Amino acid sequence: MGKRILVTGGAGYIGSHTVLQLLLADFSVAVVDNLDNSSEAALERVAKLAGDAGRNLSFHKIDLRDRDALKKIFDSTKFDAVIHFAGLKAVGESVEKPLLYYNNNIIGTIILLETMANYGCKKLVFSSSATVYGWPKEVPCTEVFPLCATNPYGRTKLMIEEICRDIHCGDSEWDIILLRYFNPVGAHPSGFIGEDPRGIPNNLMPFVQQVAVGRRPALTVYGNDYSTKDGTGVRDYIHVVDLADGHIAAVEKLFQGGSKTGCQVYNLGTGKGTSVLEMVAAFEKASGKKIPLVMAGRRPGDCETVYASTSKAEKELNWKAKYGIEEMCRDQWNWASKNPWGYGKPDESTNPST
Ligand code: NAD
Ligand code: UD1
Repeated sequence: MGKRILVTGGAGYIGSHTVLQLLLADFSVAVVDNLDNSSEAALERVAKLAGDAGRNLSFHKIDLRDRDALKKIFDSTKFDAVIHFAGLKAVGESVEKPLLYYNNNIIGTIILLETMANYGCKKLVFSSSATVYGWPKEVPCTEVFPLCATNPYGRTKLMIEEICRDIHCGDSEWDIILLRYFNPVGAHPSGFIGEDPRGIPNNLMPFVQQVAVGRRPALTVYGNDYSTKDGTGVRDYIHVVDLADGHIAAVEKLFQGGSKTGCQVYNLGTGKGTSVLEMVAAFEKASGKKIPLVMAGRRPGDCETVYASTSKAEKELNWKAKYGIEEMCRDQWNWASKNPWGYGKPDESTNPST
């Protein structure tokens, strides 16, 4: 059996895809998740998709802030590294309930890091976000750009990045990789796992998906007066399987013999900018569904154009995104059409072997 990885938030959207890739790459995986924004069904499907390697997956339904429960997991297993996804991520909610976000994201992370240090597990991959670039002065964004945050969610990402840099500064035994994700979309090509947001989706593609399956009447386009090719916002959409593979590359870097990793940061994106209208058109083509649009004003806190410089990850992680927006939309629609209610209706759940 390969190295043992603890994955926090592993039942969630990016976590579940990463757990599958880890199992397929022969890692042994323990997931910690409170299922606040996810379903255990995702992990059951991951185990099935992984075939024999599914045996190497265990699940612990606990909250990261439950220090005693976390200790018990570290008592029972010696982990080689941790991938830390667990956190709340809705920008609007973070503005309304900042303490909820600081409590969950910051305190959860501190308890995790303290527990790791107590058990001598000092290798970490953390989910940061392109949100830390704010409205960048130029694109593509490189990892040395100035950082800022415009809302409590973004501030938790920035604070955790700073905490990681500080703990590495205080103890050089830590090896830490901060991954700044651009816009993850799509689903596993099998259509058995994908994104299943609770309530009204905040992000573009989950909303488009719900319009396509008839759960919502139309997509509201937030702003068509930006200085972009068609006036709508431009982002760097990345297939979630590419993103998951980026985590495998990061974990492998942590285990590379010889030199220490230190505390490093990498963008995970494709380096390409796509507008809202281009993304909608690609999804319409993939699904054969018309997405009705309602034009509206700009969303507060949105920026015009963000896309990644990918050269650092390509060079140092030996990783590059493989998929384009066609594949992203194809796989998103495959997941949506097979699971129009996400993991919500167990009687309708599908079996990967059928
Ligand atoms: P998600 O909500 O699907 O997954 C997060 C998981 O963490 C959920 O399963 C949730 O139940 C769990 N969780 C939250 N708080 C917890 C706690 N205190 N204890 C235990 N489990 C807890 O979100 P995702 O899209 O998979 O995102 C994963 C990470 O990546 C998050 O940290 C998010 O901020 C970051 N990120 C996401 C995006 C994106 O667009 N999806 C972009 C940039 C960064
Ligand atoms: C948003 C968050 C960001 C977070 C990221 C991933 C804001 C201001 N930013 O980024 O902090 O890291 O999600 O969770 O919330 N759009 C529409 N209609 C919609 C939804 C989105 O037109 O219903 C547009 C947006 O204006 C934007 C693009 O689609 O131009 C992408 O939006 P979204 O998917 O929310 O991602 P970000 O804005 O990049």
